Amino acid sequence: MTVVVEGVSKVFPGKGSDEVTALSDIDLTVGDGEFVSLIGPSGCGKSTLLRLIADLDSPTGGTLTVFDKTPRQARLDQDYGIAFQQAGLLPWRSVRANVELPLQLHKVAGRKERVNELLEMVGLSDFADRYPDELSGGMQQRVAIARAFAEKPKLLLMDEPFGALDEMTRERMQGELVRLASESGAAVIFVTHSIPEAVFLSDRVVVMSPRPGRIREILSVDLGRGVDRGEGLREDTSFFERVSAVREALHGGAPTGVRGVETR
Ligand SMILES: Nc1ncnc2c1ncn2[C@@H]1O[C@H](COP(=O)(O)OP(=O)(O)OP(=O)(O)O)[C@@H](O)[C@H]1O
Ligand SMILES: [Mg+2]
Repeated sequence: MTVVVEGVSKVFPGKGSDEVTALSDIDLTVGDGEFVSLIGPSGCGKSTLLRLIADLDSPTGGTLTVFDKTPRQARLDQDYGIAFQQAGLLPWRSVRANVELPLQLHKVAGRKERVNELLEMVGLSDFADRYPDELSGGMQQRVAIARAFAEKPKLLLMDEPFGALDEMTRERMQGELVRLASESGAAVIFVTHSIPEAVFLSDRVVVMSPRPGRIREILSVDLGRGVDRGEGLREDTSFFERVSAVREALHGGAPTGVRGVETR
């Protein structure tokens, strides 16, 4: 298993009785090569869950494993790539040098070619020698995505990585992400606020609810993988059906009778 989350809770201490239960009783497994999206209202604990998996914070209850290791060990072994809400680029390094950074740290050979390939993928070949503050927010985000992919990780943790992109670029990046993930066999845990984006990308969509953050439902999307997910899918009836099912789950509607829905 790529990721196993069992009975995880996260309580942030506040002043007096102001503590916040960001996550409560979370059970989730992500299989090898599986694409799982997390969706839910603001504050329901999506980023917190991703941060626990990435060992950027620790749970107050329950256990997590990443590739059968503790999150800490997986982080030390650099088992995954990360692309979060803020691009997190190093301002003193050029676009090329930012993307190259993880490859350089690990002394990977053939770096120049790999970086060119990655910049091509995110449409930034012409900006290789620019610096982050010379780029728009969406372009910075694309640099971060290229960097996350640099080492062909078996797991990608992505927190609203396409939030700053215009709609056309966003759809193109979604297509690229689906293709790259299926070609490389990487599992992806992807946080988004967009229902169509979650459906287009995912094998399963995890619908969360706030206060305390819980998993409300897990929906299987069942629309095929990788190359099956062409642009045409966005116009397909099966796609709209899944979008409605996720919307109903988000709004807490009774999901009974909707195909492909696991109720928990
Ligand atoms: N470091 C922290 N200290 C205290 N409370 C926190 C901290 N991080 C998150 N929280 C609280 O935990 C809850 C969940 O936050 P989280 O960032 O995981 O939500 P989210 O689902 O990612 O929301 P959004 O969609 O707005 O990004 C919120 O109530 C938030 O205030
Ligand atoms: Mg968040």
